[in-house]
Amino acid sequence: MAIKTKENFIFGVATSSYQIEGAAAEDGKSPSIWDVFCKTPGKIYEGHNGDIACDHYHRYKEDIKLMSDIGVNAYRFSISWPRIFPENGKYNPKGMEFYKKLVNELNSKGIKPTATLYHWDLPLWAYEMGGWLNRDSVKWFKEYALKVFEELNDSVKLWITHNEPLCSSIYSYYEGVHAPGHKNLREALTVAHHILLSHGTVVEDFRKFNFRDSKIGIALNLTPSYPASNSKEDIEAASISDGYSIRWFLDPVFRASYPEDMKEVYGEFVGEFDFIKDGDLEKISIKNDFLGVNYYSRDLIEFSQDSEFNFRKTYGNFERTTMDWEIVPEALYKLILRIRKEYTRMPIYITENGAAFNDEVSKDGKVHDDKRIDYLRKHLKKIVKLNEQGADIRGYFAWSLMDNLEWQNGYSKRFGIVFIDYQTQERILKDSAIWYKDLIKKRIIE
Ligand code: BGC
Repeated sequence: MAIKTKENFIFGVATSSYQIEGAAAEDGKSPSIWDVFCKTPGKIYEGHNGDIACDHYHRYKEDIKLMSDIGVNAYRFSISWPRIFPENGKYNPKGMEFYKKLVNELNSKGIKPTATLYHWDLPLWAYEMGGWLNRDSVKWFKEYALKVFEELNDSVKLWITHNEPLCSSIYSYYEGVHAPGHKNLREALTVAHHILLSHGTVVEDFRKFNFRDSKIGIALNLTPSYPASNSKEDIEAASISDGYSIRWFLDPVFRASYPEDMKEVYGEFVGEFDFIKDGDLEKISIKNDFLGVNYYSRDLIEFSQDSEFNFRKTYGNFERTTMDWEIVPEALYKLILRIRKEYTRMPIYITENGAAFNDEVSKDGKVHDDKRIDYLRKHLKKIVKLNEQGADIRGYFAWSLMDNLEWQNGYSKRFGIVFIDYQTQERILKDSAIWYKDLIKKRIIE
């Protein structure tokens, strides 16, 4: 059945700085922790790195032209902190120049700039001073954010403080799969806390600018956990997994508290939660204008004695992407209903949703990514259905505009609706981009 979206619903695309920009040492940019992590043997698939990536730093006009051809209403990108502050306290106007040009070009094409302040590329200087483990990181982030607000001001319509704090804390400091690759739970929770505190601090400061129609929020990756069976053990395991990836982040932002059950689970490894100071949770839970939800898949969870928190991931019968992520649009539907019931009624943007498949250029020179079209269509249908039920989802950002550096997987996973030939930097619209173009024009999901 064909369904229609509202005229003002935003159809966007998303990327992040380190994954696409390249120009790793240009115009005064200093290294980030990802520059270093990528060069550390064994961390990234085949030693790939973001030195050149999609060369977007030099090709941004061409890329905006592509977006304009597709007809997107908004572009979500992130700002590289070490371009703006290559040293502690040292502002680099040259680095800012790039984002000014980018934002102007977007606005001239009627594409709403949507800027993320932190998509994981922490300046190396900040890391060397303790990074997010050091409570002063909140001050460093504030200085950076204020400068960006001052310079770009209300030419950016949607601001996102942090992208997926779960990844920049737990994946980076406990699981060790993301930069800087530590494996220590106490560190991970301290980092998560300081990141959330920096979010609240910056939202508070943002209000002082009195921008007329610019809004601010945070983007959380919310992967729901489903128990693998009806057994008491699996249900309990799924609840811990839910605390690990969802509640540890939604609760402080919307309830000014960390979940008690998780504090108990973590307590044994962490000791005192003394990195949480008086007043922090009030600041973290300051009112935002919207919530950004990044959704890709669900996790099927079973009890496991061999894992630290007694849960592990397993798989059901759903089809999977090349990330091995199950395709379950219904779980997005239920997730949004849950957020509405348990957390907030504020506007939601789906700030990321998409899928990696083994795309290839066919003999006809095109990329026939039917599976991606199917994935995007099914998720968008759920969103329209949710809106019909009053969910107030204001927009959707497909991840990603183009194939890019998929973190520890290097360039081996392709999420784009635009194909990148990394040898020639040629861009080819995949069938999904052509499908998206048609959808945006007609606003009808078949
Ligand atoms: C991140 C992106 C990433 C995507 C696919 C999200 O976790 O924000 O940077 O490429 O998922 O893994």
